[in-house]
Amino acid sequence: MSHVSPIGSQERVWLDANTKYLMDRAIAREQSLSRLLMTYIVTGLVFMLLPGTFLGVWNLIKISSRGAAESISPAWIQAHGHAQLFGWVGTFILGIGFYAIPKLRKLKPFALREAWICWALWVVGVTIRWLTNIYPWHWRITLPLSASFEVVAFVIFFHTVAGHRPSAGVPRPWEPWISVVIAATLGLAASLLFNLGASIQTALHGSSPAFPHEFDQRYLIVSTWGFLVPMVWGFSARWLTVFMGLRPLRGRILLVATGLNTAGVAIGFCEQFMVAGVLLLAGAGTAAAAIRFFEPAAKPAKTINVHPSFPVFIRIAYGWLLVAAALGIWASLEAEAPGIWGASRHALTVGFIAAMVFSVGQRVLPSFCGMRVLWSPTLMPVMLVLLIAGCLLRVASEIVAYQDYAAWAWSVLPVSALVELTAVTLFAINLFVTFLRPPVAVTPLNMTTE
Ligand code: HEM
Repeated sequence: MSHVSPIGSQERVWLDANTKYLMDRAIAREQSLSRLLMTYIVTGLVFMLLPGTFLGVWNLIKISSRGAAESISPAWIQAHGHAQLFGWVGTFILGIGFYAIPKLRKLKPFALREAWICWALWVVGVTIRWLTNIYPWHWRITLPLSASFEVVAFVIFFHTVAGHRPSAGVPRPWEPWISVVIAATLGLAASLLFNLGASIQTALHGSSPAFPHEFDQRYLIVSTWGFLVPMVWGFSARWLTVFMGLRPLRGRILLVATGLNTAGVAIGFCEQFMVAGVLLLAGAGTAAAAIRFFEPAAKPAKTINVHPSFPVFIRIAYGWLLVAAALGIWASLEAEAPGIWGASRHALTVGFIAAMVFSVGQRVLPSFCGMRVLWSPTLMPVMLVLLIAGCLLRVASEIVAYQDYAAWAWSVLPVSALVELTAVTLFAINLFVTFLRPPVAVTPLNMTTE
């Protein structure tokens, strides 16, 4: 007959002390992770505001005042694009990846030192790149150097979030969102390697730090459609089904969407832009159908601590994704289409990517960054309406102005830039003030990635 001895008072004291020790350690780890993530987010916001948006607005005002798209230095345009894609969104993604992926996959804790080294290398790399494009001082050395820093930072990130084993217990099943995030991570790896290759090539044979136009167009397909788009789909599939109360994800269909998108990126890189456009549009439509954004929700959306209009903006952002792909097909059918390509790019980067970062970012980042609450949920729809209005003005007037359809559109472009700048500044203010406010109490029970 088995006999279970009652737990003695000394053992109970020991158990209580042990539990307290483990809880304290878990809370300390969570606080260090939140500090890390907050540093990545603040860094991304700084890149977004000055090297990214401010320079973009400056470029657009100069282009509009001269009435010619090719009137400013390609190096300055590329400085803006790199700061936005890698300095802002890329830094956000690395930070969120370090914070959330090991938790979502139940991986063993990694050494935070690696994430800090990655941050330092990434910031130095992206900053040198921006400065090199603006002031080409010793650019034949600094251009490849900046690209090398970015590649090494990525290798550390990849090794940290993909190289760790699951912690003991039941292994987490391989869910479709993970495959999509892996496809996006490979897109990031490809973008950084192309960037390194082109930087070396340009340093050896170019006459300025700007990449040649033809290569830049193909490279941008990889860094936007090949990296950012599937990354947003992956995290949408993981979080938005819950946050928006959507019907269950169609996992296999999402994988088909990712396959179509990857094929579109590969074919676009080979300059078959029409076929690529069709595949990207098909992929985007299939992804929206897989995540079921445009079907009636199954449950009420979880909009606590954000504005209740949050789901509407997510749907509008996915609408812009379809518009961006459709404009890409139109541009591929025209002999000369700088305005339509530019409009397609900003429908994607502002209408889709920035709107998704504004919406999902304000939903998840305050709680990830030390259990905070968003400072002003009311500002959320204000900035999103401004962002979308600015994007609409920009996309429409860029086509009309750059394609020489009507001269009045040149005077609308600076207005669109200032409207977007206001939206972006409000987003940064809302997050900065949120981070400056004290957190709510942290316990292991409320440490969650949902
Ligand atoms: C206030 C908002 C913005 C303004 C005024 C702006 C302005 C510009 C301008 C004038 C160009 C030159 C090409 C063209 O005329 O189409 C450009 C290119 C570009 N922008 Fe923006 N932009 C803004 C926001 C963004 C955002 C949010 C992103 C990404 C998240 C972005 C990514 C890019 C990229 C990737 C390019 C192409 C760079 C290249 O040719 O290598 N922009 N932008």
